[in-house]
Amino acid sequence: MAQIFTTPSSMRQWARQQHGQKRRVGLVPTMGALHLGHMALVREAQRHAERVVVSIFVNPLQFGPQEDLARYPQTPEDDLKLLDEFGVDAVFMPSVEEMYPLGPSLTRVSLERLASVLCGKSRPGHFQGVATVVAKLFHIVEPDTALFGQKDWQQLVIIRRLVADLNFPVEIIGVPTVREANGLAISSRNRYLSPADTSRAASLYRALRGALAAYQSGTRGREEIRRQVADSLSLSGIEAEYVEVVDPRTLEPSPEMLSGQTLVAVAARVGKARLIDNILLGQD
Ligand code: PAJ
Repeated sequence: MAQIFTTPSSMRQWARQQHGQKRRVGLVPTMGALHLGHMALVREAQRHAERVVVSIFVNPLQFGPQEDLARYPQTPEDDLKLLDEFGVDAVFMPSVEEMYPLGPSLTRVSLERLASVLCGKSRPGHFQGVATVVAKLFHIVEPDTALFGQKDWQQLVIIRRLVADLNFPVEIIGVPTVREANGLAISSRNRYLSPADTSRAASLYRALRGALAAYQSGTRGREEIRRQVADSLSLSGIEAEYVEVVDPRTLEPSPEMLSGQTLVAVAARVGKARLIDNILLGQD
């Protein structure tokens, strides 16, 4: 059975005990409503650390006023069952009051331009909220390694930069996206989709696979790739919030003629859900 901690001090005490016994601690930060995508992070964590902590905290700081904070799915019993099945050692599930006892943080991690591109354009303050809570979690758990999904590529880039800029002694590991059989990236927000939306949502990844196929057969024009993805989405009745072709490390727009690794990232509203996905071109 996983040990459950609800206060930062009890969590830290346990993590320090593990370190005292020379055990590496891996942290998987989540907002709960756990699914097999999260569990891929847990499995990877278990390969890198003797003890794995999963945090479950729906962080108000990263939700905009018009976003889904109030209706964000919370399934603590199912989450704990799944975590036990996967042999997780500890779960950190603090209340908002435990995490922000003085009210919303006055001190926040700001991220300059990394936070204002891609999803940052339509979600002002979101990545600042993510980086702030992740910095807090790193201070509380003091993990040797922390795992994040490549589905949220921009988040992963930002966390890597946070760790480099602020000298956190944490190794960040990115984990490939886990998908449904139809290609749809698994997400807690998929439960907002109706059955019809679910099959429409699969066209996000289909469009990205199309970009990869075009790239593999020699297409190098950035705009050509971009247009192909946007057209493919609109054929499926999806109007993208953005389709961007960027450098996977800096998130800067790629050159007009692609070379080296390139990330194609999309965001789109499908029914009641805002979904994101991405694919890497030129991986080898
Ligand atoms: P959440 O959306 O719960 O995701 C937790 C972690 O699981 C993230 O690193 C995310 O990229 C990863 N993940 C989600 N779906 C995945 C999938 N299908 N395949 C692989 N990994 C997947 O992201 C957050 O929470 C929050 O912003 C958080 C980092 C916890 C800070 O509050």
